[in-house]
Amino acid sequence: MTDFKDRLSAAQKEVNEVIEAFLPKEEGKARLIFEAMNYSVRNGGKRLRPLLMRESFRAFGGDKLTEKLLTEPFMAAIEMIHSYSLVHDDLPEMDNDMYRRGKLTTHAAYGQDIAVLAGDALLNYAYETIISACVSADTAEKRLAAVRAAEIISVKAGVYGMVGGQTVDVSKTGQRLDDSELEFIYELKTGALLEAALTVGAVLAGATDEKVAKIETASKRIGMAFQIKDDILDETSTDEILGKPVHSDAENNKTTYVTLHGIETAAKEADRLAAEAKMILDELGLCGDFLSGLFNYLVERQH
Ligand code: IPE
Ligand code: IPE
Ligand code: MG
Ligand code: MG
Ligand code: MG
Repeated sequence: MTDFKDRLSAAQKEVNEVIEAFLPKEEGKARLIFEAMNYSVRNGGKRLRPLLMRESFRAFGGDKLTEKLLTEPFMAAIEMIHSYSLVHDDLPEMDNDMYRRGKLTTHAAYGQDIAVLAGDALLNYAYETIISACVSADTAEKRLAAVRAAEIISVKAGVYGMVGGQTVDVSKTGQRLDDSELEFIYELKTGALLEAALTVGAVLAGATDEKVAKIETASKRIGMAFQIKDDILDETSTDEILGKPVHSDAENNKTTYVTLHGIETAAKEADRLAAEAKMILDELGLCGDFLSGLFNYLVERQH
């Protein structure tokens, strides 16, 4: 376990360096937007999506040069998209939260107008980063893989993915939902970006369609488990450990897996889903991999 923790923090440090290299310079007349973007991305995040992307890429045999040229910009881009989703999720019009990643949310620090723009800017900058990577791919085969990866991210982040899930989440707030409605929301609002992370890693590494489909199925399980764990921590953790306010779901009258089934059943379900996801990794021959340790961490994490 300590081995895993050391490896995780070393990997998070490396991922932070990758992300940092793609963040914009804070300069010029519109300097404020760059500051707000960087504020939203820097510090405190667990960096799970870029980390999962990199580990999936490596597990499927991706090479060092492609990692540098393609996977790294995609890693930075997915964290930008994730960070934008959090900036908007925290707005008073949505979850109305004042703390994120241990500091004031972007709207609390910069005002709502700039927070909306910082979210817009991060989403657009993510695609600027991705398209530059596609253009600079050094072979036709890699360019095709990069374009496929870009398509995956764009679909999973959009109305058929994260945005669609957030739409149903906010529009059903205050209503009692059944399991299938909740599953729809979780698969899209949270699962979709985790699916994007793992499948993009596989596609950039040149994995076969069959393997990409398998890792996508594993990601769906782990995505659901991840959101259930987020719901549990919202009930059981503290503001300090979590870096964001606990009981946000209760205050917003959200139906969650925990309100429907209780904490104990929720924890069992998260473990069951993670075990299923790891079995798929097993079938792919990736069982002893760091990726499998990350799957455990996604449901065992304390923040
Ligand atoms: C929080 O995601 C939002 C959810 C989808 C539950 P993370 O728990 O990955 O947040 P950071 O990036 O570590 O802050
Ligand atoms: C949000 O789910 C998932 C996103 C797409 C941002 P939550 O609203 O539960 O995430 P937290 O708890 O604020 O991080
Ligand atoms: Mg929310
Ligand atoms: Mg929220
Ligand atoms: Mg939450």
